[in-house]
Amino acid sequence: MCGIVGYIGSKNSVPVIIQGLKRLEYRGYDSAGVSVINSEGELLVYKKAGKVSKMEESLDLDKYSGTIGIGHTRWATHGEPNDINAHPHLDFDGNIVIVHNGIIENYKAIKKRLSIEGFEFQTETDTEILADLINFNYRRTNDFVTAVRLSLVEVEGTYGLACLCKSEPDKLVVARKGSPLLIGVGDSETIVSSDAAAVISYTKHVIYLEDGEMAIMTKNGYQLKTIEDKEILRDTEVLDLLLDEIEKGGYDHFMLKEICEQPDTIQNTYRGRINFDTGVAKLGGLDTVLDKIVNAERFIITACGTAWHAGLVGKYMIEQYCRVPVEVEYASEFRYRNPIISPRDVVIAISQSGETLDTLAALREAKKFGATTIGVVNVIGSTIAREVDAGTYIHAGPEIGVASTKAFTSQIMSLALITMMLAKYKNTIPDSTLIQLSQELLAIPAKILKMVEMKEKYKLVAESFKNAKNFLYLGRGFNFPVALEGALKLKEISYIHAEGYPAAEMKHGPIALIDENMPVVFIAPHDGTYDKIISNIEEVKARKGRIIALAYEDDENIKNYADYILPVPKTSPLFASILNIIPLQFLSYYIAVMRECNVDQPRNLAKSVTVE
Ligand code: AGP
Ligand code: GLU
Repeated sequence: MCGIVGYIGSKNSVPVIIQGLKRLEYRGYDSAGVSVINSEGELLVYKKAGKVSKMEESLDLDKYSGTIGIGHTRWATHGEPNDINAHPHLDFDGNIVIVHNGIIENYKAIKKRLSIEGFEFQTETDTEILADLINFNYRRTNDFVTAVRLSLVEVEGTYGLACLCKSEPDKLVVARKGSPLLIGVGDSETIVSSDAAAVISYTKHVIYLEDGEMAIMTKNGYQLKTIEDKEILRDTEVLDLLLDEIEKGGYDHFMLKEICEQPDTIQNTYRGRINFDTGVAKLGGLDTVLDKIVNAERFIITACGTAWHAGLVGKYMIEQYCRVPVEVEYASEFRYRNPIISPRDVVIAISQSGETLDTLAALREAKKFGATTIGVVNVIGSTIAREVDAGTYIHAGPEIGVASTKAFTSQIMSLALITMMLAKYKNTIPDSTLIQLSQELLAIPAKILKMVEMKEKYKLVAESFKNAKNFLYLGRGFNFPVALEGALKLKEISYIHAEGYPAAEMKHGPIALIDENMPVVFIAPHDGTYDKIISNIEEVKARKGRIIALAYEDDENIKNYADYILPVPKTSPLFASILNIIPLQFLSYYIAVMRECNVDQPRNLAKSVTVE
C-alpha cells in the first residue's frame, strides 16, 4: 500500500517528509518522491523508482528545501513503476503538484476533455490527470481550495491526496475518499500522513479525515470541510501509539518481533473482556448490536488473505460451540456475486488494516441489504472500523511486517471471545465448560511464550528445507485453516510454492505430487482426528514424501512416522489454532531469511491492499 506525507510549519519540510516516508515503507511500494516550494517560490519535484533511500541519496538537500512540502511512496496501479510515473505529479502549467493514494476510475474521460483544452501529459498515471484537472479549475476560479474541491466533486474512484499550489504557497490541501489520511497538529506546524507512524514523532494530537472530507492545512492549524463546501468543526484526538511500537526493538525483522510479541498481544486482545471466575466474555464494542448477534439466523464472515483464514477458524468455532450457521466469504468474490443477504444476517468484516478495499466493499454491500455489520479490526480509526455498526478492536498493536502474524492470532482470540459470549447467551455451553475454557485461555500466553523460547528448534527444521521448491500443508478441523495460513506465510515471504489442504482431501488429487522432493507439513496434535492424520502420514511416507509433523511435545508415537517434528503445547480445540500457527510462522520466517528474501517487504506485496 502506498503512503503520503505532507508538512507545513517552521522546519525544513524535506527531512520531515523523508523520515515520514521511511516510517511508511513497511506498507510496500515501488517508487518515492518529494516536492517542495523553496524560499524563492519555486515548485520543485524530485522522484525516483525504487526505495526512499535511493531517492534520498541523489537528492540535493540544499536545493530541495522549504517549509512546505509533500512526499509519496507509490504502489503502482496505472503506469509501470518508473521515475516518470512516480509521485509527486505536476500539472501541465507547473502550478499544481499532487501526491495520491488510490485510483481515479474516470481519469480517461477527464483526460480526453483536458486534451481538448490543450493539456499535454507526461505520464501513464491517473494521478497526473487529477493535477491537470485541479489546474484547469484553478485557471477558471483563481482559487486553489475551490479548484481542488470542484475537481474532487467530478472525480470517481478513491483517493487520499495532498497537493500544493505555487501561486498560493501558504497552504497544503488534503482530501480523502477511500484511502486513509490523518492530520497531526503540532506547535506552529501541521503534518499529514496516510498512517500515524509518520506523525507520532511530531505530535500526538491528530484528526482523522472521513470520506468526502478535505482540509486546508497552514502552519497555524487546519480548516475542515466537505467537498460539498460544508464547514466541519472537529477537535483533535490524542494518538494512543508509542514510537518504539513501530521500531524493530532489537529484532532483525519486524516479522520476527511481531511473532515474538504474541504472548503479550494475545493478552491485550482479551484483557478486560473475560471474567475468569464465571467464564463470561463481554465485548463492549458489540453492546449496541448484542440482540442482533444473539438472534442472528446466520453469520457471514468476509475478509481477505490471512484475515479470511481467521474467519474460517471463526466458522468452526461458532458452529461448534454456538450452533449457528456461518458462511466465510472471500470479500472480493462476495461483493460481485450478487449475494443473498437478509436483515437477519450478521456480517463480520475481519481486517488488520481496516482499509482493504475488497473487504470494505463487501461490508458496504452487506449494509445495503440491511444486515448488521460488525468489525474485527486492528487499526484504530480505520475505515472499516468506522463504517461497521459495531466492532471489537483486536489490540495487536501496529503490525509492520507485510506478512500478518500477531494480527492473525489476535483475530482468532477475538472470534473465540465472541464465540464464548454468544454461547453464554444461547446457553449452548454449560457454565462449567465456560469456566474451563476461560482458565485455558489464561494459559495461552505462557504456552505461546514456550514456543517463542524454543524457536531454535523450528529454525533447525527450516535449515533442511530452505531449498525446497514446493510444500504441502495438511490439517483437519480447526487445523485446516491453520494449514492454509501456514502455506500462505511460506509462499508470501520465501516465494516457495505452498498449498494448504484438508488432510483427507490429499487422496483426491494432491497425492500425485508426493515424491522424495515434496515436504509435507502435517498439523497433527493428538486430538480427535489424530489416528486419521497418522493414516494420511503413512500414505505420504509410502510415496517417499518428507514428513514434518506439528505435534504435542509429549507425543512419542509421532516419532515413528515423522522425519521432523515441530513441538507444540496442548490446549482446547477452541484455542488450538492460536498455538498451532506459531511454529509455522517461525518455519516460514527462518526459511525466508535463509533464502535472503526481503522478509518485511516481500516482492509484489503491500501491507494493505487499498486497490481492487
Ligand atoms: C497476510 O500475510 C497478507 N499480508 C494478506 O493476505 C492480508 O492478510 C490481506 O491482504 C488482508 O489484509 P487486512 O487484514 O488488512 O484486511
Ligand atoms: N493510481 C496511482 C498510481 O498508479 C496511485 C497509486 C497508489 O495508490 O500509490 O500512480
